[in-house]
Amino acid sequence: MEIHRASGRKKSPTLMVQWTAPQRAGQRRAFFMSKDYLQAAIEIAREAGKILREEFDRPAQISYKGDVDLVTQADKRSEKWIVARLQEYFPEHSVAAEEGSGQEHNSDFRWHVDPLDGTTNFAHGYPCFSISIALAQRGNLLAAVVYNPFYEELFAAARGAGATLNGKPISVAKNTSLSTSLLCTGFPVHKRLANPNIHYYWDFTLRSHGVRRDGSAALDLASVAAGRFDGFWEFGLKPWDTAAGVLLVEEAGGKVSDFSGQPYQLGGPMILATNGLIHEEMRQVAFEISQRDPAAPLRR
Ligand code: IPD
Ligand code: CA
Ligand code: CA
Repeated sequence: MEIHRASGRKKSPTLMVQWTAPQRAGQRRAFFMSKDYLQAAIEIAREAGKILREEFDRPAQISYKGDVDLVTQADKRSEKWIVARLQEYFPEHSVAAEEGSGQEHNSDFRWHVDPLDGTTNFAHGYPCFSISIALAQRGNLLAAVVYNPFYEELFAAARGAGATLNGKPISVAKNTSLSTSLLCTGFPVHKRLANPNIHYYWDFTLRSHGVRRDGSAALDLASVAAGRFDGFWEFGLKPWDTAAGVLLVEEAGGKVSDFSGQPYQLGGPMILATNGLIHEEMRQVAFEISQRDPAAPLRR
């Protein structure tokens, strides 16, 4: 049995097995364990990272999907590359990608792809952006990569195997109190007036060491996994924003839920991800804020 890459472009010892044609589908499924899926995702994220670096050094070609919802040439090029490479390795898997070039197949396996998370930062030359790629099997996350190609920081996790930053194990912070925590959140680009987050931002800012707003939800979650932030919350994120980050946080020893403490579902209305130790405190504060009249002034 010869081990080689499906593309035939370059030999690699880890990724593909050349099976006889009738064996291919079942055997490929059996061969790929979470760690092998992860190796494929890492390789593809690094390739897409080269595209983003190239585009970052050029004037941004921006178009608008909404009022302040930007899309650039970089989002499109990165997505095209990632989807093509995933389909090359895993032709039977579905791919859900933000800019709409994904593929639907009758498969238990689904890749969630954000080809450029932090487009607004990217378009303004602020180097806080990432590529986010995750694989789920019937909703169960197996492998995750979040990569910031500017700072060359690659966060990775495989179910049951822990989380890493540039190959070194990472774990969540040890802070036990909200009052001494550093938090992070984000604001949507759609229906901004309908979003209640400014109330939460206000309250959490006054109850902690501060709340950062970095503009890439995938990196925000990766930063919780790496212990840089103690907690993160946001409303209305899509599966491609959160899938990789959720597995990173869980594998780094943190906790992810909704505001009622139920397990977070990909695409759910809100996400709360913490080091685990301040989870209940943050959840209770969030619940308390949610019970207030959203039209009331911020200062109480
Ligand atoms: C956005 C970023 C941002 C978050 C927004 C997302 P995009 O993703 O993750 O941090 O606050 O809600 O839409 O559009 O840059 O891929
Ligand atoms: Ca995104
Ligand atoms: Ca995006």
